[in-house]
Amino acid sequence: MKKIYIVGWGPTADEVWYFIKKYELYEVAGFVQYKRDITEKTHNGVAVYALEELDEVINPEEDYVFAAMFWDRLNDIRRILFEELKTKGYRCATLVSPSADTNGASIGENCWIQDNVYIKPFAQIDDNTYLDTGSFIGLNSVVGKHCYIAGKALVAGFCRIGDQSFVGLNSTVFDHTEVGSLCVVGATTGVKRNIPDCSVVKISGDNTVVKTYAKEVMTDKLVAAHNIR
Ligand SMILES: CC(C)(COP(=O)(O)OP(=O)(O)OC[C@H]1O[C@@H](n2cnc3c(N)ncnc32)[C@H](O)[C@@H]1OP(=O)(O)O)[C@@H](O)C(=O)NCCC(=O)NCCS
Repeated sequence: MKKIYIVGWGPTADEVWYFIKKYELYEVAGFVQYKRDITEKTHNGVAVYALEELDEVINPEEDYVFAAMFWDRLNDIRRILFEELKTKGYRCATLVSPSADTNGASIGENCWIQDNVYIKPFAQIDDNTYLDTGSFIGLNSVVGKHCYIAGKALVAGFCRIGDQSFVGLNSTVFDHTEVGSLCVVGATTGVKRNIPDCSVVKISGDNTVVKTYAKEVMTDKLVAAHNIR
């Protein structure tokens, strides 16, 4: 089995480790700290290295690395790390769940295609983009570099999502829509107009009604026989 070094620290790196082990995609040969001063010698039973030490242990012809960072600072940390790994000449793996259906889409390096993702034919996913669980990419759509498409987000057909953008949980990008680079599409938001670079599109919190009651009346608040139609 090919070896991989997971570059990053924290919940995302741990989830990547779990994912690789669960589906036996690679032998995890090490965790690699990035801009962190970790004193642990091992993590999850695997050796820990500093990025500066990686050259001493990796075989760059054979082994892979994976930049394991979530969407913090609008994917900028993951972008910088990925570019640094490429400059150093490392090969970045792309991780694809066996339950994802990619229909032969073009998928770049250091992508993470998680469980139950569905990509329609002729779509393109560029380098260093994560598609979180259950997300959907439509026919002929292009998702740029360093993007994060969150769980259950729907990107319909013939869309373009610009580099380094974030598409939030359960949002819907309507077909033939262009979302620029460095954009944030908020969770549960429907996008049906083109969105220029460096935009945030989100629903207003004012649509949500919150009422708080006495504990004794709460079981009356969801009664099947009282359904109002
Ligand atoms: C778009 C989103 C970030 C806006 O946040 P919000 O909670 O609705 O905040 P508000 O609309 O009350 O915004 C208040 C301000 O705080 C900012 N803000 C809120 N959360 C922020 C965050 N995490 N980082 C930076 N700024 C944030 C907003 O941009 C806004 O700034 P502005 O007034 O300059 O526009 C948020 O709705 C969202 O969708 N988050 C993503 C959730 C998600 O999909 N998670 C996936 C996990 S994998």
